Amino acid sequence: MPELDSPQRQTPDSLMLPGFWYRALPADRVVRNQLHQATLLEIPLVVGRDRRGHPFALRDACPHRGMPLHDGHFDGANVECPYHGWTFDAHSGQCRLIPSLTADQNLKVDRIYAGSYPCEEQDGFVWVYIPEPGPQGAGFTKSADPPQPAPQIEKFTAKYKLAYLTADMPVSVDHGIIGLMDPAHGPFVHQAWWWRSRHSIHEKQKNFEPIPNGFRMSAHTPSSNSAPYRLLRLYAAADSITTTIDFVLPNRRSETIRAGKFWFSSLTTVTPITRNHCRIDVVAAWNIFRWVPFGPELLKFVFAKFVEQDRRTMEMQAEGLKHNPHLMLIDDADRPAKWYFQLKAAHLESKRTGEEIKHPIPGPVTLKWRS
Ligand code: FES
Ligand SMILES: [Fe+2]
Repeated sequence: MPELDSPQRQTPDSLMLPGFWYRALPADRVVRNQLHQATLLEIPLVVGRDRRGHPFALRDACPHRGMPLHDGHFDGANVECPYHGWTFDAHSGQCRLIPSLTADQNLKVDRIYAGSYPCEEQDGFVWVYIPEPGPQGAGFTKSADPPQPAPQIEKFTAKYKLAYLTADMPVSVDHGIIGLMDPAHGPFVHQAWWWRSRHSIHEKQKNFEPIPNGFRMSAHTPSSNSAPYRLLRLYAAADSITTTIDFVLPNRRSETIRAGKFWFSSLTTVTPITRNHCRIDVVAAWNIFRWVPFGPELLKFVFAKFVEQDRRTMEMQAEGLKHNPHLMLIDDADRPAKWYFQLKAAHLESKRTGEEIKHPIPGPVTLKWRS
């Protein structure tokens, strides 16, 4: 089909995708022997850390009568429901004890499970794997192993620093993601006297290529407007600096900047919390500025500024979206957003048919826009 010249209507469906790992909470907020609440894809979770420090995630609802387990007692190994004291293994969710049972009642306690989810700590976050939902009305059993381990930030040396930023956005995961990959809002949203102004708008051209479950902005010399690039230029010749930006389903944008032996990597995720609420988490790792006293702080300051500008913008956008307006995506600036929706549709289609995902991007493409 030929590309339409007029803007295409391609509205977000706000559909959240199970079958992937999601960031639940920053690891430093999950304290040993305590219970914490989190929500992923509208699923209430209780997240904790056992006495050996290993994280776990259970559905925050007792299988007996639905009591939130986060209000219960945790002894470092088992979670006890505050209503009737049923006790569950924190990792497997298997029931260990039903205090009301008498000695001659032989209910098979160990066949009862609270919902449990695969859980891993990776690069400063507790990740939880959300499986495909089971048949309606079916109870929980032992959770199956996830098909792959939790995603990691790419690192190129043994020693590095790590920092994170997180921001709540009152919009669906789709708006969060297309906001993240949208190149045209920069000059308007991310203005700062020390950075750039809307008068710095100029034409840009970037090459993209398909990768499994996503697309890549091919290795290129980074935009002179990008924050880490400006700092990196202090350490390396401008033409030795290359950056690669990948997006992969369901929600991951990773950026790698390399300049000789120096590198800077980030993994940004947009996590669906509920239909109308997502959270952006940026985690960065780097081996530059380790000896510069203000390097990391400066970088964090710059990123925090950017994320806050995006958050404020999406808060305003949420006002407008309340009234369900017509929306449009235009070429080429919104082409990555179109790809996102096409990838999502292709993923759902492949799950429906059981066939391999039909990648919507046929081959390398050059996109042009002004920003
Ligand atoms: S509701 Fe949890 S033990 Fe009864
Ligand atoms: Fe932005």
